[in-house]
Amino acid sequence: MTTSEPAATLDNLLAEDRTFPPPDGFAATANVTAEAYRRATEDPEAYWAEQARRLSWATEWTDVLDWTDAPHARWFVGGELNVAYNCVDRHVESGNGERVAIHWEGEPGDTRTITYAQLQDEVCRTANALTSLGLQAGDRVAIYLPMVPEAVFAMLACARLGLPHSVVFGGFSAEALRTRIADAQAQVVITADGQYRRGSAAPLKSAVDEAVADRDSPVRSVVVVRRTGIDVSWTDKDVWWHDLVDGQSTEHTLQAFPSEHPLFILYTSGTTGKPKGILHTSGGYLTQAAYTHWAVFDLKPETDVYWCTADIGWVTGHSYIVYGPLANGATEVIYEGTPNTPHEGRHWDIVDKYGVSIYYTAPTLIRTFMKWGSEIPGRYRLDSLRVLGSVGEPINPEAWMWYRQTIGRDRCPIVDTWWQTETGAIMISPLPGVTATKPGSAMTPLPGISAAVVNDDGVRVGPGGGGYLVLDRPWPGMLRTIWGDDQRFVDTYWSRFAAQGYYFAGDGAKYDTDGALWLLGRVDDVMNVSGHRISTTEVESALVAHPSVAEAAVVGASDEMTGQGIVAFVILRGDAAAKVQTDGQSGADLVSELRKHVGTQIGPIARPRQIMIVQELPKTRSGKIMRRLLRDVAEHRDLGDVTTLQDSSVMELITTGLASGK
Ligand code: WTA
Repeated sequence: MTTSEPAATLDNLLAEDRTFPPPDGFAATANVTAEAYRRATEDPEAYWAEQARRLSWATEWTDVLDWTDAPHARWFVGGELNVAYNCVDRHVESGNGERVAIHWEGEPGDTRTITYAQLQDEVCRTANALTSLGLQAGDRVAIYLPMVPEAVFAMLACARLGLPHSVVFGGFSAEALRTRIADAQAQVVITADGQYRRGSAAPLKSAVDEAVADRDSPVRSVVVVRRTGIDVSWTDKDVWWHDLVDGQSTEHTLQAFPSEHPLFILYTSGTTGKPKGILHTSGGYLTQAAYTHWAVFDLKPETDVYWCTADIGWVTGHSYIVYGPLANGATEVIYEGTPNTPHEGRHWDIVDKYGVSIYYTAPTLIRTFMKWGSEIPGRYRLDSLRVLGSVGEPINPEAWMWYRQTIGRDRCPIVDTWWQTETGAIMISPLPGVTATKPGSAMTPLPGISAAVVNDDGVRVGPGGGGYLVLDRPWPGMLRTIWGDDQRFVDTYWSRFAAQGYYFAGDGAKYDTDGALWLLGRVDDVMNVSGHRISTTEVESALVAHPSVAEAAVVGASDEMTGQGIVAFVILRGDAAAKVQTDGQSGADLVSELRKHVGTQIGPIARPRQIMIVQELPKTRSGKIMRRLLRDVAEHRDLGDVTTLQDSSVMELITTGLASGK
C-alpha cells in the first residue's frame, strides 16, 4: 500500500476561517437539533433503535446490534421487514398515494409523473413479472439500465421479492458487465435497447448480448425496456419489458424478510484488478439511508422537492435516489440525461420547472458549471432551493463558495457528505440546522456515527493532527461482507488496524484546530475520477491485456475538473516498440487505440486522460513500481529523492523521453 502525501493545498485549506452558520430561521424548524449529538453519544444503540422506528417492521427486533462475530455485524436481529413495502405501499396506506414520488424528466424532453399509488402498481407488476421468470428469494438479478423509471421499478421489485440486485452502471463495458454477472451468478439481466446520451441514442442491449453470449453464462433471461427504439438483435433469452410486465396484475402479496436478508450487491473498485461486490442487507441499511436522508437534507416530505443528480449505477443513486427518499415518502426529480443537453442551463431549468428545494450533486459537476459560467444559472430564479449537497470527492473551497453564492444565492446551507459504497449511507456531514460550515470540510460525524483520525500505529491524533480516517464503532448501513470473498472483506477493511478493531476507510483525513474533519482523498491505489472510483491496477490490467503492451503503470494525477485524471505509462512489446521508434504517427495511433481498448475493457470513464510510451518504469529495489514518482511526472513536479530507485537513470530516461515527445 502506498501512502500518498496530503494535497499540496492542505495548508491553505486548513487556514480556512470562513464559517457559515445555518441561515436565520432555518434552525428553528430543522428536523435535527444539536441535542441529537448528545443523545446519540450517550447511547448509540438506543439512538439507532429510535431511527429504525421510522420504518415499518413486520416483526420487532430483539437485539439492536450483535457484534459478537466482529467484524461481521448483525443489526436489528430478529426483526423482519419488507424494504419495498417501506418505500412504497405504506405511503399509500397512510393516505399519501396521490403524492408524487417521481417527476421523471427524459433527456429528449419527454416526462412522466409517478405518484406513490402508481409506483405501487408498477412495482407489483414488475414483481409478478420477475416471479413468472422463476426467480426465488435469494436469486440475483443484474440491472443494466439508463436513468429510466423502470430502473426504480426493477430495484424495488427485487427488494419486494428478496432478490438481491446488482446494478451495473450503464457506462460500463460488456466485459465489465460479464465479470459482474459471473461473480454474482445473476440469472436475469434487466436492460434497455439503448440510452440517450448527449442528444443521441446509443446502444445498450448489444453489450448485454456480448456479456451473456458464453455457453456457461448463468443468465437465463434478458428483459429489455424499449427506450430509444433503436434496432436490437434478438435471442431466445430475450423478452421485452412491455410484453412481460404490462399485462401483469397490480396485486402482489408481499412477504417480510429477516433484517439481515441481502438487499443488494454493488461492485466497486479495490486496490486489485478485481472489483469487490459490496454486500448490503435490509433493516440496518434502510434505517441509515432513511435517517440520513431526513436529517442531512432536512427533508420535509409534504413540501420539499428533492433532486439527486447521481446515476443509480452508483451507491449514491441506490441510497439517495431509491431507498432513502422513497422510504421517507419524498417527492423527487429523476433526470435521465447529461447536464448540457440541449443546453448548459438544463439543470437550472429543471430546478425552476419542478421547484426543486434540495439539490445533491458532485464537486466535479459544480466545477463544470463554474467553467460554463455563472451567467448561465444567473438566468434562472432558483428561489425554490433551500439545501445544497455535495458528495463523491473532496470539494475545493473555491467550488464550495461558488456553489453557495451562485446556486444557493447565499441563503442555502451546504452539506458536504462523506461516505462510501461500503458505508451504505452518509457518515460525516454538517447538519443544515445545526452546523456552522467551513468551505471544503465535511465537519463532523453524524449523530450515531463515530469516526477518528489515527496515525500509522493506529493511535488517535488530536486537533491539528492528520493521518488515516477510521470508523471505530459499527453502524447500521455498514457492508456485511464482499460477495463470495469474506477473507478479502476482513483483509481490506479490518486488518490494517486489527489491534484496535477499526474499519480502515482508505482515506486520508485531518482535524483542523477546531476539530472539524477535512477529507484528503484516497491513500491507496484507488483513483477518484469525477467522483468515480477506479483502481490503478484495474486499468493496468486492461492495458497489459493489449497485445502491444509489455508493462503498464497507472497513476491518478490531480486534475482541475475531474479531481483526478488517469495517466498511464506503458512499455511496449518488441514489435510495437520498433514500429513506434521508426514512425512517429504509429505512436499516436497506438495511444488512441490503447485508450479505446481500456474503454472496451472497463468503460469510457476509465479511459486514460494521457498515455505515455516509455522505455522503463521506475521501480524500488524490491521491484515495486514507484507510483509517487510517476505522479510527479504526470503533475509536472520536481522529482525529489530518487535514491531508492533500482536504477535512478530511469527517471531521466522517462522525463527526457517525454520532453522529446517519444
Ligand atoms: C471519496 C461515494 C471527500 C472518498 C458516496 C471515499 C469523498 C470515496 C466524499 C467513496 C466527500 C466521497 N469528501 N471525499 N464528501 N465523498 N468521497 O464508494 O475517497 O463511490 O473513500 O462512494 O469517495 O466513493 P464511493
